Order: sequence, then C-alpha cells, then structure tokens
Amino acid sequence: MKPRILIVDDEQSIRDTLRMILEYEGYDIIQAANGDDAVRLIEREAPDLVFLDIKMPGMDGIEVLQKVRHLTDTTPIVVISGHADQGGASSSEAAQAMKLGARDFIEKPPTQDRILVTVRNALDSSRLRSEVRSFRKDIEKRYQIVGDSSPLQTVRDSIHKAAPTNATVLIWGESGVGKELVARAIHRESLRRDGPFVQVNCAAIPDELIESELFGHEKGSFTGATDRQIGKFEQADKGTIFLDEVGDMSLKTQAKVLRVLQEQELERLGSNRVIKVDVRVIAATNKNLEEAINTGAFREDLFYRLNVVPIHVPPLRERREDIPSLVRHFADLLARENNFRRKTFSSLAMEKLKQRHWRGNIRELRNAVERLLIMTSGDGIDARDVPDDAARPDAAPAAVPVPGPGTTAALPPELVWASIPTLQEFKSITERAYLVTKLRDNNWNISKTAELIDTPRSNLYKKLEQYQISEERDGK
Ligand SMILES: Nc1ncnc2c1ncn2[C@@H]1O[C@H](COP(=O)(O)OP(=O)(O)OP(=O)(O)O)[C@@H](O)[C@H]1O
Ligand SMILES: [Mg+2]
Repeated sequence: MKPRILIVDDEQSIRDTLRMILEYEGYDIIQAANGDDAVRLIEREAPDLVFLDIKMPGMDGIEVLQKVRHLTDTTPIVVISGHADQGGASSSEAAQAMKLGARDFIEKPPTQDRILVTVRNALDSSRLRSEVRSFRKDIEKRYQIVGDSSPLQTVRDSIHKAAPTNATVLIWGESGVGKELVARAIHRESLRRDGPFVQVNCAAIPDELIESELFGHEKGSFTGATDRQIGKFEQADKGTIFLDEVGDMSLKTQAKVLRVLQEQELERLGSNRVIKVDVRVIAATNKNLEEAINTGAFREDLFYRLNVVPIHVPPLRERREDIPSLVRHFADLLARENNFRRKTFSSLAMEKLKQRHWRGNIRELRNAVERLLIMTSGDGIDARDVPDDAARPDAAPAAVPVPGPGTTAALPPELVWASIPTLQEFKSITERAYLVTKLRDNNWNISKTAELIDTPRSNLYKKLEQYQISEERDGK
C-alpha cells in the first residue's frame, strides 16, 4: 500500500508544489488548508506522515500539534516553517514544534531534494519505531506471568521482594511450571534491568565444556580452543546470570561457581589473570537439592549460597483456577505469533481443561492449546474438541484396541464388544479402527484417505488428534 501523506498549508502554491513532487514519487496525498481540517484528518485518516505549516490564519500549526500531541508518536509530523526574515515562523517556533513532538522541519520554499529526504527519513524512523513497539509488546507478552491464584500471588510477592535486592535466588519446582519466567521477572524488576540477562542451561552443556562456557577460555588453553572465548559470567557483568538446571553441574564446576559467588571474581581457562565481575545469580532446579546433598552430588556450601531467597513455583494441579486465563493467554499469544485464527473456548471446554491431569504442567497446557487451535475447525472450541485424559498417549492402559497388521475387518471380536460399556465408546472404537485400517491401506497418505472415505481432510486430522492416531504408533 502506498504511504499516505497529509499536506497542511494555507497557501495553495505550497500545497501544489509538495503534492506534485510527492505524487510523482508514488505517495498518496491528502490535503488540508487550515488547522481545523488538519486535526480532523489526522485523527480520522491516520496518515503515515504529515507536512504541517506553522503560520496559518485561525488555528496555527502549533495549536494543531498541541491538539494531536497524543498521536505524534505514531503519526510523524514534519513542520514547514518560513524564514524569520521573510515574516514566516521563526526558528524558535520550529524548536517549539519539535518540543511538541514534531519529528523534523523544512524551510520555505521547500526544495525537492529536501522534501524527499525528509519523507524517507520520517517514514523509515516511524516504521522502526512501530517495529520496536510491537517487538517490545511481543516480548513483554511472551514473558508475562499469567494467573491470579493465591499460590501464584505468593510467587509474585517473593519476586517483588527479591527483585530490587542483589540477593541470590533459587527457584525450584517441577518441570514446566514457569521457573524461567520467574527468573526473567526478577531481572526485569531489578536495578540491573538495563544490563544483560544471560541464561545458561547447565543440563544441556557437556561436562567438559561447561567451565569454558561459564568462565571463558584463552586461545589454545585446550584442544579445540582456537579462539579466546568470553564466558557467560563475564557476559553477564552488571546484569544477571540465570543458571538453569543448576542441579546438573559437576562438583568441580560447583566449586568454581561458588568462588564467583563468594569473591565476584574468576579466571578464564588457560589464564591466571583474575577478572572482577559484578553479577547477580539466579538459579533454578527441578531436582531436590537437599537430597542431592545427602548423596554427595551437590555441595552443601553452594546450596546455602544459592538459596538465600528460595522461591517455590507450585505445579499447575495446585492452582487449577489459573487455567482459564492461561488458556486465553496462550490462544492470544499463538494467534499473534503464528497468525492462527482466534478462537474462543466454551465454558465446558475450559472446565474439561481444568479437570485434566497436567503432568507436564504449563508447558503441556500450552502445547494442548496450540494443538486445539490447529486441529479444531470453526471459530469455537467446545468440550468435545478437548481430548479425554484416557485418549492421551501417556494414559494407561490404551483404551482402544488397534487391529493388527493385515486385518481388513476393523471390528473387534465379540469378546471385546462385551467389555465395551457404552454405545459412545463402541462407536469411538470402531471409528478409530476403521480409520487406522484405511490409513494403512493408503500408506498413511491423509489427503488420499480423506478423499476415499469422503470426509474433509480437516475432519480426518481432527479425528487423528481425537484418537491419538499417529503413523509411528500404529503404522507399518
Ligand atoms: N504463569 C505463566 N503465565 C504464562 N506463561 C507461563 C506461565 N508459566 C509458564 N508459562 C509458559 O510455560 C512454558 C514453560 O515455562 P518455563 O520454561 O518458565 O518453565 P520451567 O519451570 O523453566 O520448565 P523446565 O523445568 O522444563 O525448564 C513457557 O512457554 C512459559 O512461557
Ligand atoms: Mg526452564
């Protein structure tokens, strides 16, 4: 779409000059000859750029700026000012306009080059601003802690209390409960918020590499060290380091980390030079560190150093009332990030989600929401779209028998029928068996199968999800 530019000037000749130049360059032009019209058009049409004359009879450019001040962040305004010696607006008026949010100014008579450069700059900078704005919003949203349950409120309280201090925080809780979000929130609310937040997943780094990862190394300090590397602790200087899965560090690494915590200093591998760092440490673990201390896998002194402020993040099953707001949050987030269609969850669907067993906690809930958004056709998600616990692959034992390879008769033998309590379950079993047979016959080609059995492809996908049918599990 062509960028749209509003030209505001009481002098017809100036408007014409600007219009001709800008239209030639392919911009879409609208015009106003006075301040009142200008305000109206800025508010109503939201142009991409405004050229605004300062000296006008009636409402002048300064007044226009005052009226639309709240919009100057998104609608860039370039002021047109005359030379003071020609009776036009003085440079002090241009300065006043800039203070009121004008992005730039040009002098009369405007030259073609100046106009085009100004337009390009203004449009570029406003595009950048809007990108930054939406990027910030995305980040904020991605790391927002959602939920109002009282266990989560307790977590929030601890975050608020711990954040402004320099104290080491140990966050513990099951996998997928939101420990990383808590760590980020502490950094965001701390005095170090403008410094770096450096995350290290101790479980993901092989033992022989973790020291160089954390403390850095000099060139040639070990085979493979072809360049000097700055470690994560140094990178986090004046900021926060987040030691995730801290329970997975070797005893040797633990000793070195302890030293940084005590002395705020370190040495790179292969160097004797002592480097001072100013780092706040936040650690997280889903292990029971006290148990690890008993078995000798974790240093007790390090534990006490880390555990200055412990924050426990409770599992989802202990705060089910958070589920509806989390579901809405993820649906919104996923829609924004992946351009999914927005869908609403019925209250029965919500209820079913609340009752489900969430072994993988919030991460599992998020994945379930994503799956529902992909698999459900239509604008709403209803209770019947939400799979039962029993239909999930980790539910024991598999409720639905699958016919063996080579079976064409999909119906289970009578003996099995007798064990099926309800008509609904019978229907599900036969439907599932039928689909598996047809899919297998067609080499798991979903489009082809859907066509052959005369059902929309989307419906077949829905069924696959509903019955947890997948090639890996049922195929070959
Ligand atoms: N209260 C919450 N509000 C919104 N999103 C959340 C919340 N808690 C967790 N999440 C989301 O759930 C997912 C898992 O959270 P996170 O990675 O923080 O968990 P974790 O405890 O660090 O897990 P692990 O032990 O597996 O590393 C992330 O996508 C995170 O954004
Ligand atoms: Mg984590």
